[in-house]
Amino acid sequence: MLEPVMHNIPVTVPPNAAVDLTILAQQTAAKWGLTYRENTDSGLALVQHVSHLELRQLDEPKVGAVKVDFASDALTFRRLHGGGKKEAIARAIGLKGKDSLHVLDATAGLGRDAFVLASLGCVVDMIERSPVVAALLQDGIDRAASDSELRSWLPTNMQLFHGVATDLLVNWPYEKPDVVYLDPMFPHRKKNAAVKKEMRIFQQLLGPDEDADLLLEPALKLAKNRVVVKRPSGAPFLAGKKPQIEMLGKANRFDVYLIQNRN
Ligand SMILES: C[S@@+](CC[C@H](N)C(=O)[O-])C[C@H]1O[C@@H](n2cnc3c(N)ncnc32)[C@H](O)[C@@H]1O
Repeated sequence: MLEPVMHNIPVTVPPNAAVDLTILAQQTAAKWGLTYRENTDSGLALVQHVSHLELRQLDEPKVGAVKVDFASDALTFRRLHGGGKKEAIARAIGLKGKDSLHVLDATAGLGRDAFVLASLGCVVDMIERSPVVAALLQDGIDRAASDSELRSWLPTNMQLFHGVATDLLVNWPYEKPDVVYLDPMFPHRKKNAAVKKEMRIFQQLLGPDEDADLLLEPALKLAKNRVVVKRPSGAPFLAGKKPQIEMLGKANRFDVYLIQNRN
């Protein structure tokens, strides 16, 4: 059984904050079309701190919070000691032998895949339709602008557009990207400890992207070189369309659709 999808997530402030964050929280709410709510202590909420924004299940403090931190130990380790251009995602987008590619990540989420590609030199435009997820992602990008390791490249290489990708892909007003990258939410079969806390909160917030199949055709029309779709291993092809290349990993598969003669 799927959890109900949450549409009305308020922005609030932490109880007993040392400084008054009301105005900041109200500004965040207004920017993303959300409502500000004072004194809320149950359900999912975006919590405005001085230093960052986080998504939290207020009545389940043990579940932990979700925030975007591109300077986290895990992402820093992956950036410095991951496979570089040999990483599966880099091979899938065709980065081998190139300094950079222009990638449009049309299902940005919390921007981890985009971050990996941007850290390898790609210029990544990102589209995210959920205002809650977009708020978290933009907060992470803004904080990266004051991190000594990230500020020289991250804000230049990662740009977020808040909107619906099926519309934006059709009317993309900027230069066509070399690659369109798609990673829509897939319904998880098992609900167990292996489904990470972040994924559980995300499933509760967004539910599966039931309209994901609609992304493939406009992506194929827009991309100059290829469309790459990340799927869980064993999942059916997006829109039932077989790719030219399937790159199988342990948990995921990258389906690569090559575009012929469009430059
Ligand atoms: C599985 S997450 C992506 C995770 C991401 N690749 C990462 O590394 O963090 C899928 C995201 O795509 C967004 N999404 C799905 N369909 C979309 C659409 N048509 N337009 C814009 N965003 C969409 C969802 O709101 C969700 O945040």
